[in-house]
Amino acid sequence: MGMARTRLVAGNWKMHGSRAANRALLDAIVKAMGKGASAECAVCVPFPYLQQVSGQLAGTALAWGAQNVSEHAQGAYTGEVSAAMLAEFGCRYVIVGHSERRHLYCESDAQVAAKFAAAQGAGLVPILCVGETLAERDAGLTEEVVARQLDAVLGKGAFSDAVLAYEPVWAIGTGRTATPHQAQAVHAFLRKRLSREARILYGGSVKAGNATALFAMPDIDGGLIGGASLVAQEFLAIVQAAAKG
Ligand code: 13P
Repeated sequence: MGMARTRLVAGNWKMHGSRAANRALLDAIVKAMGKGASAECAVCVPFPYLQQVSGQLAGTALAWGAQNVSEHAQGAYTGEVSAAMLAEFGCRYVIVGHSERRHLYCESDAQVAAKFAAAQGAGLVPILCVGETLAERDAGLTEEVVARQLDAVLGKGAFSDAVLAYEPVWAIGTGRTATPHQAQAVHAFLRKRLSREARILYGGSVKAGNATALFAMPDIDGGLIGGASLVAQEFLAIVQAAAKG
């Protein structure tokens, strides 16, 4: 038996927040968490707030990261943010290939793989998102889709200590979470392509009320949390669920 995988709960704020709201939310989370949470936790925030969170969270048990990164190191790429810039703000994590980036901003598997490599090159831990649409699930293509999305990245190098997040598109922001067994089946499939140590998070309508059942599954190592990460009590309850067992 290898070492147990430390569970990770990461909030994805998406395009939400304000300086005042962030301060209040982080304050409530950090106060309740104390210094020694037994699950790792992080918040992935909009770029303009990295300065604020790096100041407010320094020395706490709550890590932080960004939601996107350029695949390029520097240059004439108006509006883009490099991995080295994120590293300067003390980011540990960066989400790459979120379904909203893939679908709304047409990011390809190859582009996501390049972003993943850029993040690792700067010493960040990429959180790679994969997941099928409802049409793909209904057509029996779930494993094919998530394998293609993951293999594009594995082809570029080692996964090493990166984090994978399975986020079925039909469960994101819909209130319709995958059942623990649906999620576990995909996680077990993905696990076979990775080392036993790699952490695989589930994302898609995770709430305080369903987190315990999801985290009880053997291949679910935590969660990537959208809407519920904006409410301190919900996020804290999810972190508590991850810290148990
Ligand atoms: P919700 O938790 O709001 O469904 O969002 C999930 C997600 O996309 C996290 O990256």
